Amino acid sequence: MKVALIGFGTVGQGFVEILQEKHASLAEKYGLTVEIVAVATHSRGSLMQPDGLDIDALLDAIGKGHLRHYPHREGLVRDVVTETLIDQCGADVLLEASWTNLQTGQPATDYCLRGFQNGQHVVLANKGPVALHYQQLAQAAKAAGKALRYEGTVMAGTPSLALAKEALAGCTISAAKGILNGSTNYMLTEMERGIDYETVMDDAKAKGYLEADPTADVGGWDAASKAVILARSLFGANITIDDLDVSGIDVISSGDIAAAKAAGERYKLIAEVTPAGGSVKAVRLPLADPLAGVAGTTNAITFETDLLGPVTLVGAGAGRRETGFALLADLLAIQRQKVT
Ligand code: HSE
Repeated sequence: MKVALIGFGTVGQGFVEILQEKHASLAEKYGLTVEIVAVATHSRGSLMQPDGLDIDALLDAIGKGHLRHYPHREGLVRDVVTETLIDQCGADVLLEASWTNLQTGQPATDYCLRGFQNGQHVVLANKGPVALHYQQLAQAAKAAGKALRYEGTVMAGTPSLALAKEALAGCTISAAKGILNGSTNYMLTEMERGIDYETVMDDAKAKGYLEADPTADVGGWDAASKAVILARSLFGANITIDDLDVSGIDVISSGDIAAAKAAGERYKLIAEVTPAGGSVKAVRLPLADPLAGVAGTTNAITFETDLLGPVTLVGAGAGRRETGFALLADLLAIQRQKVT
């Protein structure tokens, strides 16, 4: 499987590290051999090599800060514009892992559409295009007869979408409710230990949990984008972030948290979607609620189903390898579709 990687930050590098570590077992167990034929970045150069880039050299180059450190090999093309790279790289799958823009979803959405025009499957870890332009992407995928997958956009590689869409196929899901933002869950957990908002925010920033623009996290917008993706994916709902009732943890004070604790309750930023709409807000949960026990950066989601009742999934919601794995999981799903 030839892949082009758009964006080579934490998630893209995590994905390539997983390939480096597991290439032999992926080939042996699943018959999957991944060749990276192109990598595009916003400010650290780009590379295209139709017969496959060397993974060790690629990680070494980005580790030194720029793809210009990748050694020259015959057939290597450097620093072409991303549109040309998508057209010319010969990839079977376009992996979109560039940074999330929740205002426009661009330029990533155009890159994905271009991928479909080139007959590529598209896999996203980037939430922006799926939250803002799902309809357009789904139509383009259908017209091209190619897969559109985006497991990593909700709960990183923890298989929230695969569980709902694949393992629970046949059940009717009436609602999904969860903790979909790891950084704010971490912040609430730390604030309950008595640490103040500003200190916790600096700590979460230093640990790399927050988005490039932290208001996306603390204002509830990151969780809202995931709620929109869930609503579209589970219910086919044609909604946007503006249709949701959204607030964040920035309206919760240390005093509020202490008051909840004294009452045997705990604040959690809860995203909820049903076929009729959805919301994101910090709510006080009794400690007996399964979501109240989910601490730190961990995410969780409960699907309300007709045949099984509530089904809850708990796992990582962010991180280098955790989200890198989501890209691999989607590639394996595409591989399975091809062989079955
Ligand atoms: N900033 C996000 C979070 C990263 O805290 O969950 C994963 O989408």
